[in-house]
Order: sequence, then structure tokens, then C-alpha cells
Amino acid sequence: MKQDLLTFKDWSSDELNDLLALAAKIKADPEKHNQILAGKSIVALFEKPSLRTRVSFDIGIHKLGGHMVYLDSQAGKLAGREDAKDTAANLACWADAIVARVYSHETLVEFSEASKVPVINALCDLYHPCQAVADYLTLLETYGSLDNLTLAYVGDGNNVTHSLLIVGALLGVNVVSVTPAGYEVNQEIFQLSEQLAHKTGAKITQSNSIDAAKGANVLYADTWISMGDDTPLADIKRVFDPYKVDEAMMELTGAEYVMHCQPAHRDLEISGDLIDGDKSLLMQQAENRMHGQNAILAKLLG
Ligand code: CP
Ligand code: NVA
Repeated sequence: MKQDLLTFKDWSSDELNDLLALAAKIKADPEKHNQILAGKSIVALFEKPSLRTRVSFDIGIHKLGGHMVYLDSQAGKLAGREDAKDTAANLACWADAIVARVYSHETLVEFSEASKVPVINALCDLYHPCQAVADYLTLLETYGSLDNLTLAYVGDGNNVTHSLLIVGALLGVNVVSVTPAGYEVNQEIFQLSEQLAHKTGAKITQSNSIDAAKGANVLYADTWISMGDDTPLADIKRVFDPYKVDEAMMELTGAEYVMHCQPAHRDLEISGDLIDGDKSLLMQQAENRMHGQNAILAKLLG
């Protein structure tokens, strides 16, 4: 039975902890794992731009002994040429897995139903699970344990926030989502995260007030305008300016570190000084994209 990675909702806490341990093992000794994907071919289909996800999958797959085929559905004029389910069924005739970055989560569901090989979500409108694995691996490395940690996400309630909530709940990390009114996370996903947290004891909370981030270990920022959103920047800035993650917010909350999935917009949602300073975990997160994804591939295909 093939296993997909669309959301992590259906994974257990033990499975997720094992995944982080595997990522750390592969990172520590890449030579030992360089044949995990020997003879395997993985197709990576992108409906949206990417730097980190595209390159970290490509190089990561190569390091595990496999081969990646990159498909840009826009530039390749593939978008709309056939039904998503036919695309997936065809790709599964040749590939051992499909990595896909899509506009709509529904496309991934169709891919999953039509594909006989694993489908991995490389970002959709609702989730960014590969990002969350890299982020919690980064926190595990930084603190040595995820026990009693609080992560405060500050900004637009979006795909990245949703995956931080779900994976945080499963790993026992307290997550608080701080957003402007009207930009809260999807409430179904929030409630599901609360339910998942019952088993681990994590506290899952949300607020429109920055004060809710006080006492957090880490502040996490993401773009105020996600890919595909064409709201004018001036309108967004009016709402989001108080939510900019900067030195003053670090001081107010007492946070020790700052995270951002990137691409980051310097001096918009996060100050340039914080990105470059010694509280920044951004490049460690970026590096861990590859190690986290390698563990995902090893688990689903190994
Ligand atoms: N964080 C992230 O997914 O970056 P890309 O959009 O560059 O892949
Ligand atoms: N929320 C952002 C994440 C980019 C990695 C977006 O969807 O564009």
C-alpha cells in the first residue's frame, strides 16, 4: 500500500518523531545513506515558483542515489492540457514518486487517488508539510528537545501556519498563531490541531494580539502576501505593519530565536537585521529542507 504525504493529519506522533530522528541520522552521515533511492526516479511538478523546495529536492534526491525530473507546468505549457488525474496516472507509469507544488489542495487529492506511487505535497494553498519538518528539525537541533517549547507564528494565517499547527500539535510543541483580525488560520484546521494536541499535551492557541506571543521561545514570520494572492501591497501593509517581526517584538516577547520559511521580504514582515543577526535560524531551516525531505523520501520509498 503506497503512502502519501499530503498533510500529516493522518500521521501519529511516533511516526513524526521517527521521521525527525531519521532526518538527523541522514544529515549526520550522508555517505551511509547514498543508495537509499538507487534506481528510483522522482518527478517534481511545480505550478508555482520555488527556490528552496525545488533545489533541495533535486540535490537531496541526487545525494540519496536517485534521479529527479523537474516539470514546470506553466513554462512547459502543461497547465490545463489534461485532467490532473490523467497527469498523475501517467507520471506514475514511470516515476517512483510524485512531488507536487499546486495552487489547490484538491489537485493533490486527485493526484493521490490517481497515482499508484507516493505523492508528496511540496506546498499547496492549505499546507506546507515539508517546511514544517525542516522547521521542527531545526528546533530540535537548537534546543536538544522539543519539550516545553513555544513557537509563536506572527502574520498571515496561511499554508505554512497550518502545517506548523498540525505538526507542532503532534510533536508536543505549543503553537500560538498571532494574526490580524480577518487573517486568522482556517478554523477547521485549528480545531483539528487542538484535537491532535490532546494526546501530546501541546497548547494550541490563536489571537489577534501580539501580547499572546509573550513568553514564546521562537517567533516565526512568513510573507504577508502568499503566491497567487494579488492584494495590493499598500492595503496589506496598513493591516500588517503592527505584526512586523523585528528587534522590538523580540524584546517585547522575550523570544530567543526568529524563524522564517523564506522567501523573506527584508524590512517588510521581518527586519533585515534579524535575518542577518545571531538570533536567526533561517539558513538552518533552509538547509534542513533537504534533510527533512530526504527522510520523507526514505520513509515513503526506502
Ligand atoms: N520555503 C519555501 O518553500 O521556499 P520556496 O518557495 O523557494 O520553495
Ligand atoms: N505562504 C507562502 C509560503 C512560501 C514558501 C506562500 O504560499 O507563498
